[in-house]
Amino acid sequence: MIVRPRRLRRTAAIRDMVRETRLAASMLVYPIFVREGRGVVEELSAMPGQMRWSPDTLPRILERAAGAGIGGVLLFGIPDHKDETGSQAWAEDGVVQRAMRTAKREFPDLTVIGDVCLCEYTSHGHCGVLKGTTVDNDPTVELLARTAVSQAQAGADIVAPSDMMDGRVGAIRSALDDAGLTETAILSYAVKYASAFYGPFREAAQSAPSFGDRRGYQMDPCNVREGIREALLDVEEGADMILVKPGLPYLDVLRAVKERVSVPVGSYSVSGEYSMIKAAAANGWLDERRVVCESAVCLARAGADIVVTYFALSLADWIREGLA
Ligand code: PBG
Repeated sequence: MIVRPRRLRRTAAIRDMVRETRLAASMLVYPIFVREGRGVVEELSAMPGQMRWSPDTLPRILERAAGAGIGGVLLFGIPDHKDETGSQAWAEDGVVQRAMRTAKREFPDLTVIGDVCLCEYTSHGHCGVLKGTTVDNDPTVELLARTAVSQAQAGADIVAPSDMMDGRVGAIRSALDDAGLTETAILSYAVKYASAFYGPFREAAQSAPSFGDRRGYQMDPCNVREGIREALLDVEEGADMILVKPGLPYLDVLRAVKERVSVPVGSYSVSGEYSMIKAAAANGWLDERRVVCESAVCLARAGADIVVTYFALSLADWIREGLA
């Protein structure tokens, strides 16, 4: 006789008991854009509900983040003055450094993560310094290490290099250690694809490349084994955590990376993913809350220990209310 297995779906309580994936607010990271100026709260046209903040208005959103019990905030700086080398990226009084000092002073328990890249700071919008029309890897790595040190000195608990230059994790680790910042952790965007889903971010950060694209340093969406190689190399160089980016379209990559590394793995649900859901919800085509919750569950199920998402604050509320 064949015993028909019970499906364990009959009541909400049973479904809850046997659930394989659970979300927690503490796994969420909220990206925040900080620009120069005073009194700025500027909504991003392609990312409704997301703002650019100036250092003086920033505490308003940090307070919400701290209250939501999320894992941390990821800060992006948008300077007024951009130049060939992106010198505002490592300026002691740079906009992101000031934001970090404010955050640590006013919300000492909120984990602050700094995005380390030059594209928001260079006049040409590429992620490093140029030699002709291509990014020059090694001089860029030195500047990234300087940037990471300046962010850590300003209070960043974690630095997150998102540039995709070769050897930058090792260089950042040594520079941090040399500066006595041995406790600062590195969250490496090790597996970052050259993706069209970053479109709204580039408008938000005013960081679209003025010529060409980022395919010379970011990964080809066709590749997955290369992602594993990148992740393993970064762990060897000292990455404490790994990010796979974008999120939902790359679940297979996330799973593959998770199976090969023993450090925590995060997924970055990027600007384009946010904008798609917002646009569909605004048209009444999708139920925003349900889609956001389901998307986060799928990322966690595929292996994400950390989820970076522009929905972090509402998602944290929904998790607390038992809706996610
Ligand atoms: C900086 C950086 C980018 C994103 C995060 N860090 C943009 C890019 O690589 O073009 C994208 C984030 C998003 O789309 O939400 N290099």
